[in-house]
Amino acid sequence: MTKIISFEGFEYSGKSTQINLLRKYFKKNKIKSEFTREPGGIKDLEKIRKVIINSNFTNKSLILFFFACRFELISKIEAENQDKLYIFDRYFDSTYAYQGKDIKDKKIIKSLISLIAKNSIPKLTFYLDISKKSLLERKKNRSFQNKFDQIFLKQYERIKKNYHELIDAKIGSRKFIKINANKSPDIIHQEIISHIKKCKLI
Ligand code: TMP
Repeated sequence: MTKIISFEGFEYSGKSTQINLLRKYFKKNKIKSEFTREPGGIKDLEKIRKVIINSNFTNKSLILFFFACRFELISKIEAENQDKLYIFDRYFDSTYAYQGKDIKDKKIIKSLISLIAKNSIPKLTFYLDISKKSLLERKKNRSFQNKFDQIFLKQYERIKKNYHELIDAKIGSRKFIKINANKSPDIIHQEIISHIKKCKLI
C-alpha cells in the first residue's frame, strides 16, 4: 500500500515552503520519504512538464496530458513497492481545480480519478487556502514562474470554488484538509505534523 500525502494550492499560498519544512522534519527524524511533484517527478516527465505548463493546449488535451503524466508517475512508484511516505506537490485535485471548467470537464476528470488504483489515493491532502488579497500582496514585486500561473490568477474564483468542492468529495478514505494559508509558516507546519501523526503516517 503506497502511503501518499499531497499538497495543493495556488502559487504564493506557501505550498513550497511547507513542503520544504516537511522535508527538513523528515530528514531530522529519519523518516523514510520521497518528495515528488506534478507534472513531472521523473526525468522524462520533467521534460514534458516544461512543454505543458507553457503551452496553449485546449482544456481537454490538458486534462489528458496531466493524467498521462500522473499514470506514468504512479506506475513507477507502485512498481518500487517501497515502504516510505511519498509527498506529492500537486496531484489529481489540481486537475479538478484548474481544468474543471464546466460540468462535462469535471465528469471526465472524476472518471479519470476513479481509474487511480485504491493504493495510490492519498491518505491526506493539505490544501493551503489563500485569499486573493493575500496572494496579490505576496506576489508584489515577484514574477510568476510560468505562463499557467499568470493565466490562472484571472480564474482565481473558479479555481478556489473547485478546491472547495473537494473538501466534501469522497475519494477513497483520504482526508482533505483545508489550511488557512495566512497563518505563520511555523504554525502551519505544526498543524501539518499533527495531522500526519493523527493519521498514524509517522
Ligand atoms: P507548480 O508551479 O505548483 O509546480 O504547478 C505548475 C502549474 O501547473 C500550476 O500553474 C498549476 C498547473 N497544473 C494544472 O493546471 N493542472 C494539474 O493537474 C497540475 C498537476 C498542475
